[in-house]
Amino acid sequence: MRPRVLGGEQSFECRERLVAVVRGGGELHHTGEALGVAGSDRREVGWHLLQPRRLYSGTNEEGVAMPWPAAELHVHIEGTIESEFLVAAARRNDVALPTYDPAELTARYVFADLQSFLDVHYSNLAVLRTERDFHDLALGYLTRAAAGGVRRAEMFFDPQTHINNGVPIEAVFAGLGSALAEGRETLGISADLIMCFLRDLGGDAAEEMLRAALPFREQFIGVGLDSTEIGYPPSLFTKAYAMAEVEGLHRVAHAGEEADPSYVWEALDLLKVERVDHGNRAMEDVDLVARLRDERIALTVCPLSNIALKTAPPALRDHPLPRMMEAGLLVTVSSDDPTYFGGYVDDNFAAIEAELGFSQQQLATLAHNSFEASFLPETEKARLRAEVDAYLVRSR
Ligand code: HPA
Ligand code: ZN
Repeated sequence: MRPRVLGGEQSFECRERLVAVVRGGGELHHTGEALGVAGSDRREVGWHLLQPRRLYSGTNEEGVAMPWPAAELHVHIEGTIESEFLVAAARRNDVALPTYDPAELTARYVFADLQSFLDVHYSNLAVLRTERDFHDLALGYLTRAAAGGVRRAEMFFDPQTHINNGVPIEAVFAGLGSALAEGRETLGISADLIMCFLRDLGGDAAEEMLRAALPFREQFIGVGLDSTEIGYPPSLFTKAYAMAEVEGLHRVAHAGEEADPSYVWEALDLLKVERVDHGNRAMEDVDLVARLRDERIALTVCPLSNIALKTAPPALRDHPLPRMMEAGLLVTVSSDDPTYFGGYVDDNFAAIEAELGFSQQQLATLAHNSFEASFLPETEKARLRAEVDAYLVRSR
């Protein structure tokens, strides 16, 4: 697994389920097989789990099994930090970890609730120090996402965390920005950034963060709200979101993941959000469901995350997703923090198909919804929806 140094060459041995991303001399290689790489300018840029193809129910024109084309609208780039990457970055930046065995780190990812996850998640982020770290992390995710069918990614990032760790904001934007550009060019994946405010740092800190990010205004398309939910209602962030609206930024917020439906009402009424992240608990309020349905406000639901953080019943077959769709809600499926919750978007689709017995038509609706709810221009949405239709025809 770990690179072995062989004289002047490095060779990387990969598990079958790992994709190694190696960049050198302007080329980008990714493969699920063992590969040897020569030259000192070549380096590993990321390790991301690769889904075995047999789980996919549709094919391409040549009959090769392929994942559903989809948009990922709820993924925290920091939550894609695979354990191998974490260890490599910790060694490189001289940051202490509880163990340097990637398998042991991954085995510890068992959570009682949102807060117990956030504690591990934010502690791990101390390993991200340099522009290169942010670049490699994001490019690794984009490579894995593209292999899993993602055509469009609207990715959250948490600059307050990195600034509090002593990382200059310039390094965060430069690393993420160059990865997005490289992903577009070499993988053909469309991606943009949504800057999240950490709700437990409060409203004043959010406003300060937005002001500090305005010199980089062209590098992100919207603002979001994440971290500890209960006790930090959307109303605390009314002013920051009003500032974001003036700047022409899109607005989304985590709401109704752990907290009650009043948080979703506040996100709609006070923050004027265009999408609600998670929003599962909206199902407890019929008037709220009607409002979300009538205004076509998308919910970015993350089934594997809900199971891992116990914000849904323990068995995926009891997940509220089918009821949310039956209620006429514009529901999408995303991974949230794939490293910690056991899978990327295609893994979520495969799990829904297996455990909830979703038909190809229902999966196509989710894929359609993902493009519909994205912040892409209408012409792009139409092109990608047509791709879903073609996939559906081949998957029957
Ligand atoms: N909820 C809130 N904050 C987060 C999450 C989440 O699911 N993932 C990463 N930060
Ligand atoms: Zn989230």
